[in-house]
Amino acid sequence: MSPLAYTALIDPLLKGAHRAVVEHVPVRARVLDACCGPGALSRRLAGDGREVLGVDLDTSLIAFARERARRRSIQGLSYEEGDVTALKQADGSFDVCVITMGLHALPRAVRRAAIAELRRVGRRVVIVDYAVPLPRNPAGGLARAIEWRAGGEHFAGFRDYVRRGGLDDLVDGDGSGRQRLALGVLELVVL
Ligand SMILES: C[S@@+](CC[C@H](N)C(=O)[O-])C[C@H]1O[C@@H](n2cnc3c(N)ncnc32)[C@H](O)[C@@H]1O
Repeated sequence: MSPLAYTALIDPLLKGAHRAVVEHVPVRARVLDACCGPGALSRRLAGDGREVLGVDLDTSLIAFARERARRRSIQGLSYEEGDVTALKQADGSFDVCVITMGLHALPRAVRRAAIAELRRVGRRVVIVDYAVPLPRNPAGGLARAIEWRAGGEHFAGFRDYVRRGGLDDLVDGDGSGRQRLALGVLELVVL
């Protein structure tokens, strides 16, 4: 999916979840938005004195997010290409790391490594991803359809994520502030 299509079709569906994430990020915090995609959450986090770095593996998404931030003259927001499983940043570089809709797309072998990296560079980690099991309602059906349409390795990652119990398989029950969002389709957890 192109950055523009993602922004037009997916960003509106994630608006409430992104708002919930921002509530867990103090003003003036140094924040890492991992797997930032086209940058909707990082743009939302910027402001209130926060210093935000968006990181994504996909250079075209980074270029898109950077251009949007430049055009809107958003202060305190920067982007760089990077792998969430091997971040360049030093231990404790951020007050908060956020990752929304990033974990389910990763191969299982590196999901825990990604969380470990976020815990290494950040004091707090806020995760939003699919709630498992997904609800059997139209919102759950839409989520399945979006993932199926993404296809390839992304869909394989999603199927494996669901089969293994989603965040339950990854956070060992040590998360707090756990809440369902988006008609029960998404779940937020704070580590
Ligand atoms: C479904 S998008 C989520 C985008 C955004 N966080 C949001 O809430 O809309 C998943 C993103 O993860 C990125 N990604 C996948 N593997 C990655 C990795 N190993 N390191 C960094 N980003 C990765 C993809 O390029 C994609 O932009």
